[in-house]
Amino acid sequence: MEKFVVKGGRRLSGEVTISGAKNAAVAILPAVILSDEPCIVENVPSISDVNISLRILKEMGAEVTMLGKDAYRIDPTRIDKYCVPYETARKMRASYYFLGALLGKFNKARVSMPGGCPLGDRPIDQHLKAFSVLGADYTLSQGMIDLTADRLHGNQIFFDVVSVGATMNAMLAAVKAEGLTIIENAAKEPHIVDLANFLNSMGANIMGAGTDVIKIRGVERLHGTNYAVIPDQIEAGTFMIAAAATKGDVLIKNVIPKHLESITKKLEKIGVNIEQFDDSIRVWVDGPLVKTSVKTTPHPGFPTDMQPQIATLLTLAEGTSIVTEGVWEQRFRYVDELRRMGADISVDGKVAVIEGTGRLMGAPVKACDLRAGAALIIAGLAASGITEIEDIFHIERGYDCMEGKLRSLGADIEKVNFPDSTSDSGNDGKKEAV
Ligand code: UD1
Repeated sequence: MEKFVVKGGRRLSGEVTISGAKNAAVAILPAVILSDEPCIVENVPSISDVNISLRILKEMGAEVTMLGKDAYRIDPTRIDKYCVPYETARKMRASYYFLGALLGKFNKARVSMPGGCPLGDRPIDQHLKAFSVLGADYTLSQGMIDLTADRLHGNQIFFDVVSVGATMNAMLAAVKAEGLTIIENAAKEPHIVDLANFLNSMGANIMGAGTDVIKIRGVERLHGTNYAVIPDQIEAGTFMIAAAATKGDVLIKNVIPKHLESITKKLEKIGVNIEQFDDSIRVWVDGPLVKTSVKTTPHPGFPTDMQPQIATLLTLAEGTSIVTEGVWEQRFRYVDELRRMGADISVDGKVAVIEGTGRLMGAPVKACDLRAGAALIIAGLAASGITEIEDIFHIERGYDCMEGKLRSLGADIEKVNFPDSTSDSGNDGKKEAV
C-alpha cells in the first residue's frame, strides 16, 4: 500500500500546469462510442478514473492507442458488447456515462449500478427518468441496469434536481434520437459545455449547454473528431488553495479563469491575492487570512468539490467561518481527520463551524474520498511537522501526479510504500464519494 508523507511548513512558489478535467474526460471517453469513426482526444488527465474508462472501452472492443502523455486515438467501430462488467464499473461512479452512450448508439446498454448505495445517498433516478422519457425501458436486477429501446425519440425532460450526471447522460442518449429533445433544469458546469462541444465537433446539434435549458436536435450519424478536454477547474482550485494555505506565490497555468470565478471571489474575501491572465492565474498571500462563509451550490455557485479544501484553508484564517454544504448529504467525513491535526471544527448536519486557529499540526490521517484527500494534503503542507496520508488511491482517481506537481513548487511530499496490516487490502470495495 502507498501513502503520502508530507513535511509541512514549506511555502509553495513557482509555476504549475493544470491537467485536463476529470469530470469532462470521464464523460467524453464513453461519448466516443457514439461516433462512427475514430476520434482523437487530447488533454486527457493521467488519473485512475480515466484508466478505468479506457479499460472499459477496450473490454467492449474499442481500439485504444496512446498518442502521447495525454492523448488517445479511440476507434469505436468494432465495439461489439453493450455490457460494462460489474467488476470494472463498480470501481468508478462515472461508469454511468456508458449507459447514455451505449443507449444512444445501440439502443441498448447493460451497466453495473455505480458503486455505493445507488438509490440511497447517490441516486440515479433522474438519469433513468431521462432515458425513459426518450423511449427506453429499464430494469434493475442483480446489481445491473438494463436499458432497451426500439428507437429513441426526442422529448421534453424536466429534471427534479439539478444533476451533472443526469444532464450529461440525457445529452448522450438524445444526441442521435429522432427529433428535438429539450432538457430543462439542466446542470451548467463547465464539463457540461465541454461534453456538448465535443459532441458538436462530431456533428451533433446541441444548443444552450451552460444554461438551464439545453436543446438537442437528433442527428443520424456522428463522425470522428480531434478534441482537447478543458482544464480541470477543481485541480486548479486545489492548487490555488494549496498556494494560499502555505502563504506561497504560484502561477497556475492552463486554466480558464472564468471557470474559477466563484473560487477566486471567495479566496479574495479571505485575503488571498489573485491576478488573472488569459489562461493562467497567479495566487499569493502577503497578509493575514480572514474568516468567511461559504455555501456550495451547483455551477455557477461555489463547487461542492472544493468544499473540503476551502474548509481546510479556513482553519488557518482568523475568526469563525461557516461552511454550508448544499449538494451532498455527507461531505464532512474528513472533518475528524482535520481535527486530528488540531483543527477546531464542529459539524451539525450540512453546516460546519470553523474556529480558525491559524495553525495545524502534522498527524497520521486517512483520505475518505477524493477531495477530502486533497484537503488533507493541503493541511499537511500548511501544518507543522509530518503528516502521513493513507488511502491515497482516492486522490489518484482525480489528481494527475499531485505529489510531483507539488514537489515542483517546493513542497516536501513523498509517496512511500508501507506494509498492509489488514487482510482486506484491496480498495475495490471502498466507496468513492465523487
Ligand atoms: C458530479 C461530479 C462530482 C460533483 C457533483 C456535483 C462527476 C463524475 N462527478 O457528480 O464530482 O460533486 O457532480 O457537482 O462528474 N441526484 C438525485 N438524483 C439523480 C442524480 C443526482 O437526486 O438521479 C442528486 C444527488 O443526490 C445530489 C445532487 O443531485 O444531491 C447533485 O448530484 P449530481 O450533480 O448528479 O452529481 P454527480 O453527477 O453524481
